[in-house]
Amino acid sequence: MATYVVTGAFGYSGRFITQRLLDRGHAVRTLTASPDRTHPFGERVAVSPFHFDEPEALRASLAGADVLVNTYWVRFDHGSFTHDLAIGNTRALFEAARSAGVGRVVHVSITNPSADSPLPYFAGKAELERALADTGLPHSVLRPAVLFGRRDILVTDSQPAGSTALTRWAAEHADSLGVTYASELARHRDRIREYDEL
Ligand SMILES: NC(=O)c1ccc[n+]([C@@H]2O[C@H](COP(=O)([O-])OP(=O)(O)OC[C@H]3O[C@@H](n4cnc5c(N)ncnc54)[C@H](OP(=O)(O)O)[C@@H]3O)[C@@H](O)[C@H]2O)c1
Repeated sequence: MATYVVTGAFGYSGRFITQRLLDRGHAVRTLTASPDRTHPFGERVAVSPFHFDEPEALRASLAGADVLVNTYWVRFDHGSFTHDLAIGNTRALFEAARSAGVGRVVHVSITNPSADSPLPYFAGKAELERALADTGLPHSVLRPAVLFGRRDILVTDSQPAGSTALTRWAAEHADSLGVTYASELARHRDRIREYDEL
C-alpha cells in the first residue's frame, strides 16, 4: 500500500483516480481548492486546502507521500483565475514536492504541449513539464487529448450530436478513467497503462 496525494480529488478526473486508488487499498490525501465540496469518499480521503502562497504549509501537506498525482490546472482564464496563476501555483507545488521528498509525481498535461504555442493552455503545459523535469523528481507525464467518463461535458453524458461510433465507444468505457489512461504518453507504444505502473 502506498500513500498518494491527489490534487483535486473531488474534481472531474480526480474522483475517478481517487476511487481506483482506494479500491486498490492505497491511502489517499487530497489538496483542493474546494475542501467543502460534496464527495463520495467519506472519511477515507484526508482533505487539506491548497497552500500555494505558504511554502512551508504546502510542503507539510505533501510530507510522507509516496506519489503526488497532479490534476490541478485552470482550464481558461476567468476573472482572477488565469493560466499564469496556475503555472505559478503548480511550480510551487512541484517545489514543495521536491522539498518534502515525495517519491514520484504523476502529472496530467495535454497532447502536444509546446513552448511555441500561441495558446496559453499548451504553452503553459509545456512550461510545467519542463519545471517538473527540472526538480529531478522521478515522474510520469500524461498527455491526454480528452478525458471522458460519467459526468463529462463533452463526450459521454452530453452527446452534442446523438450517437456515433465514438460516443458509443466512450459510453462503453465510461468507467475506465483512473484504471487506464488510454492516451498516456503519446510517444510510448504501450498506450494503456495502469496508475500503479506509472
Ligand atoms: N478534461 C479533459 O478532457 C482534459 C483533456 C486533456 C487534459 N486534461 C488535463 O487533465 C487535468 C484534469 O482535468 P479535469 O477535467 O479533471 O479538471 P478539473 O476537475 O476541472 O480540474 C482539476 C482541478 O484543478 C482545480 N481547478 C480547476 N479549475 C480551477 C480554477 N478556475 N481555479 C482554481 N482551481 C481550479 C480544481 O481543484 P479543486 O477541485 O480542488 O477546486 C480541480 O479539481 C488538467 O490538468 C487538464 O489540463 C483534461
